[in-house]
Amino acid sequence: MSGPLVLAIESSCDETGVALVEGGSRIHSNVVASQVALHAPAGGIVPEVAARAHLRWILPVLDEARAGAEWSDIDAVAVTHGPGLAGSLLVGLSVAKTLAWVHRVPLVGVNHLEGHIYAAWLRDAGQELPEPAFPLVALVVSGGHTFLAHMRDHLEYRLLGTTIDDAAGEAFDKVGRLLGLGYPGGPAIQKAAEGASRRDAVFPRAWLGDSYDMSFSGLKTAARRIVAAAREGAGIAEEPDVPLSPEIVAELAWGFQDAVVDVLVTKTIRAARATHARSIVLGGGVAANGPLREHLAREAEAIGVPLVVPRPALCTDNVAMIGAAGARRFLRGERAGLDLEARPSLPLARR
Ligand code: KG4
Ligand code: ZN
Repeated sequence: MSGPLVLAIESSCDETGVALVEGGSRIHSNVVASQVALHAPAGGIVPEVAARAHLRWILPVLDEARAGAEWSDIDAVAVTHGPGLAGSLLVGLSVAKTLAWVHRVPLVGVNHLEGHIYAAWLRDAGQELPEPAFPLVALVVSGGHTFLAHMRDHLEYRLLGTTIDDAAGEAFDKVGRLLGLGYPGGPAIQKAAEGASRRDAVFPRAWLGDSYDMSFSGLKTAARRIVAAAREGAGIAEEPDVPLSPEIVAELAWGFQDAVVDVLVTKTIRAARATHARSIVLGGGVAANGPLREHLAREAEAIGVPLVVPRPALCTDNVAMIGAAGARRFLRGERAGLDLEARPSLPLARR
């Protein structure tokens, strides 16, 4: 075996996950029970409902993920202890602590956001890929967070810039709702945009000067204004139950997505150049977005810096990524006590 075998547990938001990951990269199992369907009617996550669902699912998920592995072969239990929803985090933490104590295995706490970065180290069975090289620039774009970090080495994060208002995924979700596209908005907007025949809807870009900070809340306001104008133009301004035509929705979805991708790619490439990065890592749910992946890959190639992006299922919330980050912390000698706390606003990188 190469490297520690880590049993990872993730319950920070609306996915209950348990994984077995070897050496911080090789995925043995990655079992996730998603609550997306459960929260869809509310159009967003209901914290109490999420915590109850974690309680119900965590043991069946654990059984499936451990599938035959002996506790004597497991070197550590890694668990997400923040950021996330307090009640949800508590479920994973309690199970992780109990398992570590009962089986006398070390416990390691992981930040969910570093998990999104460490997804870039994960490999499927039989897959051989070069590891991201340091120093690197990491762009994390999820439903709750959006930031650019510089890493000189493993587990060292310096914040280059962050959103000053909405996260990119949050903007996708809000604009998806405005366009009548359902929850979560990201995949729905990408799909709708693929059907756009006209590509001239222009949404504003908030560049915020030379900084690496980002802002996406203006896009929501612009979308509201543009949707209202489109409804006016279609003569349905007074009829809220009549949907916009699929052609117009597609065009607006395209325009919105193009604005988000443009800002994210431009700032990431500028950061990579300024810090002489040897690789770029992209992670988080919005990194599943096709145009973002393609556009960033093209621009990274143009400046000669390799881009590492996990496959889409490892960009959105998963638990193998917690095993990847947990292995690094374990190898560095970190051990958490049974007093490891749920930290809903646990920070990752500082400027
Ligand atoms: O990382 P993630 O799964 O959960 C958080 O930690 O937040 O990110 C979820 C976010 C949602 O806002 C969702 O709309 C967005 O990722 N997302 C996408 C796509 N797939 C998921 N956004 C744009 N395009 C996609 N294909
Ligand atoms: Zn996440």
